Amino acid sequence: MIPVLIDCDTGIDDALALIYLVALHKRGEIQLFGATTTAGNVDVKQTAINTRWVLDQCGLADIPVLAGQPEPKHVPLVTTPETHGDHGLGYINPGHVEIPEGDWKQLWKEHLSNPETKLIVTGPATNLAEFGPVENVTLMGGTYLYPGNTTPTAEWNTWVDPHGAKEAFAAAQKPITVCSLGVTEQFTLNPDILSTLINTLGSQPIAEHLPEMLRFYFEFHEVQGEGYLAQIHDLLTCMIALDKIPFSGREVTVDVEADSPLMRGTTVADIRGHWGKPANAFLVETADIEAAHAELLRAVE
Ligand code: BDR
Ligand code: CA
Repeated sequence: MIPVLIDCDTGIDDALALIYLVALHKRGEIQLFGATTTAGNVDVKQTAINTRWVLDQCGLADIPVLAGQPEPKHVPLVTTPETHGDHGLGYINPGHVEIPEGDWKQLWKEHLSNPETKLIVTGPATNLAEFGPVENVTLMGGTYLYPGNTTPTAEWNTWVDPHGAKEAFAAAQKPITVCSLGVTEQFTLNPDILSTLINTLGSQPIAEHLPEMLRFYFEFHEVQGEGYLAQIHDLLTCMIALDKIPFSGREVTVDVEADSPLMRGTTVADIRGHWGKPANAFLVETADIEAAHAELLRAVE
């Protein structure tokens, strides 16, 4: 059983990632030790509420959820209600959910002392930068030789906290596995696949909320010109982190532009080794998307 911690900013695709991790946990393939949250899609209190709510709806009330750092490292927080809805879960409002006070760093310390524990970061890298180097990390973020989804050159998670991402890469002692937009945008959910997913989930309480969560995300992508579908970045990231689908990539040195207003959050991979610095990232370049669809249904069955 692979020990896992997730650090997320729940968000609709983070919610799908959580549902997938719950499925693997219930199957005994991973042990989900906890979830911590970052500020990003919505503020950090709301990301904690959303994460707690999703895990509760999936019957995992015993897994701890703690809010992490409330703000990006050096810039004010910007959230994205237009992408994920006012509360981060599309048309769903999870209402009041109690989140106990707790020290997220202590939770990380406790579980990351085991080098086998995988940390999956599906929000801005704020907590990762604050905590310091972690052995075994997979991060959703950045865009490499591929258009950004927030500015022409920046992906959302990295744009929200560019200094956090920059610091996390600078501090990395082992390459961070990086799932960036060019790969994660390939994995999409459409209404047909959603129906199959809901049918497969059967009587699980979370299933009845998925239509209203995803309807918002489909509409958002349609307005963006992507079609009536949803890119589910964070779910693909979990599958790659846990080696559940074939993927390929290469080790590179990554850096992030944090201070230029125009280029904020731009990620650069030194593919030709110009900087002469040791690799701090394993940049995922391809992932088997058909396998990812099959893997989702296999897990939730
Ligand atoms: C990332 O941004 C967020 O809105 C999503 O949850 C995902 O983690 C994609 O750019
Ligand atoms: Ca996210």
